[in-house]
Formats: sequence, C-alpha cells, structure tokens
Amino acid sequence: MKLVALIFSLSTIIISLATPSSCHNLALEHGLTFSIFPLRLKSGLGGHYIPQTSCSSWRLGVEAHNIIEWTSIPKECEDYVGNYLLGKQYREDSKAVTEEAYKYAKNLNLVGDGKDIWIFDIDETSLSNLPYYADHGFGVEKYNATSFNEWVDLGTAPPLPESLKLYKRLLRLGFKVVFLTGRPQSQRDITLKNLKNAGYTTFHTLIVKDSTEYNGKTAVTYKSSERNKLEEKGYRIVGNIGDQWSDILGTNIGNRTFKLPDPMYYIS
Ligand SMILES: *[C@@H]1O[C@H](CO)[C@@H](O)[C@H](O)[C@H]1NC(C)=O
Ligand SMILES: *[C@@H]1O[C@H](CO)[C@@H](O)[C@H](O)[C@H]1NC(C)=O
Ligand SMILES: [Mg+2]
Repeated sequence: MKLVALIFSLSTIIISLATPSSCHNLALEHGLTFSIFPLRLKSGLGGHYIPQTSCSSWRLGVEAHNIIEWTSIPKECEDYVGNYLLGKQYREDSKAVTEEAYKYAKNLNLVGDGKDIWIFDIDETSLSNLPYYADHGFGVEKYNATSFNEWVDLGTAPPLPESLKLYKRLLRLGFKVVFLTGRPQSQRDITLKNLKNAGYTTFHTLIVKDSTEYNGKTAVTYKSSERNKLEEKGYRIVGNIGDQWSDILGTNIGNRTFKLPDPMYYIS
C-alpha cells in the first residue's frame, strides 16, 4: 500500500515536471488543446526527439510502397538505416521473406518438364552491395554512377546469404533460375564472374539490360518485357524475388512475388 502510494506520488511529480515544458507546448504546436502525452511516441520523458520512431515509419512506408519515387534517404535516418542494415534485423527480415518463398515452393507439384523458373534480381537480392553503401552513407549520398560502377567492376560483391540459401533449395526442388538485372551489357562478364564466386554456380540465364532496346525505359517496362519473352518461350514463372517494387510490378510477374527489404534506394 505504502509502495503504491510512493509510486503514485513519484509519477505525479514526474508528470507535473514533464507536462509544462514538453507535452503542453507540443500539443499546442499541433493545434491540439488536450494532452497527448501518453501517445506522443516521438519524445522521451524529457521531451527529447527520438529519430528512430520516424525513421522506422519511413522504412515501413518505403517497404509497403506507400513512399515512392524518393531519391535518397532522409539525412537524419542515416544512422538508423546503417544500424538496420549492419545489424540483425535486415538479415532476419530477409530470412522471413526467403523462408516464406521456400515454404511456397516446396508445396508445389512441379510438372518436371524443366520449364518452371524462378526469377532472381541481382543487386540487393542475389548479391549485396553493402560494402559499397557502408562507405557511401547507406543511401544518404546522392547516387554516383561512376563510383558505383567502379565497385561493380571489382566483381567482389558478397551474396545475400538468405537468397543464396533459397537459390540452392530451389535448384534442389527442380527449378531453373533466371537472373534478371538492370545492370548493363558492359557489366555482364564481371557479373557472371561475381555470381559464380558468390556461390551461384548453376543457372539458366543471366539477362542484362540492353541499352538500345530499353533506352530511357523504366525497370518495370524492361523487366516485364523480358519476363514476357521467357513466357513466350514456354517457361512458367512460378516465383520472382527482388528488393525493388519494380522487380515485381508490371506484367508477367509470376505466380508469386517476394519483396526483400531495401531502405537504401528506389528504382522505378
Ligand atoms: C563520383 O565518383 C567518382 C569516382 O570515385 C569521383 O571521382 C567523383 O568526384 C564523384 N562525384 C561526386 C559528385 O561525388
Ligand atoms: C500459376 O498460375 C497459373 C495461372 O493462374 C496457373 O494455371 C498455374 O497452375 C500456376 N502455377 C503454379 C505452380 O501454381
Ligand atoms: Mg535489386
């Protein structure tokens, strides 16, 4: 009883200390005349702004395709995105996607005629450019094609481990894997080499973007058209995985699509 009373009076003191300086003023700033203290997630007790909250909403908005056509991540989210990508959560989120994909794939009864294919995007799906982006602000810095291409041309991008695991499992189930990437023809050879070194040793095709045919076209148009060509050749796109919405929107997207996380950049 005494303890309860003590806690109550302590919390009264804390609330009365916090109320005049932070809660009340912020509510007024928002045109609210009532106290929103208990719901005000953006600030701590002392009224300090906690950027994590808005950055995590921003990330959710990006992944859900509510926030689109953005060019770089908000400056104040650099640490947040960096921590996310280098920490456990990115791997766990990726795993949740690839495990779901495998669950779907293993319950199918494939015809077994070698026409069932699974499409893999490359950047931030099969291969990870995190070593590059870690040096370039995780998407805060404006995209620099010159320096990014220098990185690609090294051919040392590591695999995204969850995707590599899915790839191996799909091969065992009898799928043919097709890599469909926005990388240009000039990077075809180094990409082949990089894929093999990263563990993607067996696949049906690597499709790179033909700059003549798709000059000025969006990724959605390019990828839809290439998937259509595959279907016209009699292949069945049973699954399709990528980190961009443009990998899985458009036509001929496949029976099921899987979206890996990518809070670093947006390609339309
Ligand atoms: C882009 O990268 C290249 C190669 O690293 C560098 O020389 C150039 O200054 C960079 N451009 C900008 C605008 O940062
Ligand atoms: C994929 O979708 C087509 C068209 O709806 C359907 O006929 C086919 O059975 C599906 N394939 C699988 C493996 O689910
Ligand atoms: Mg990608």
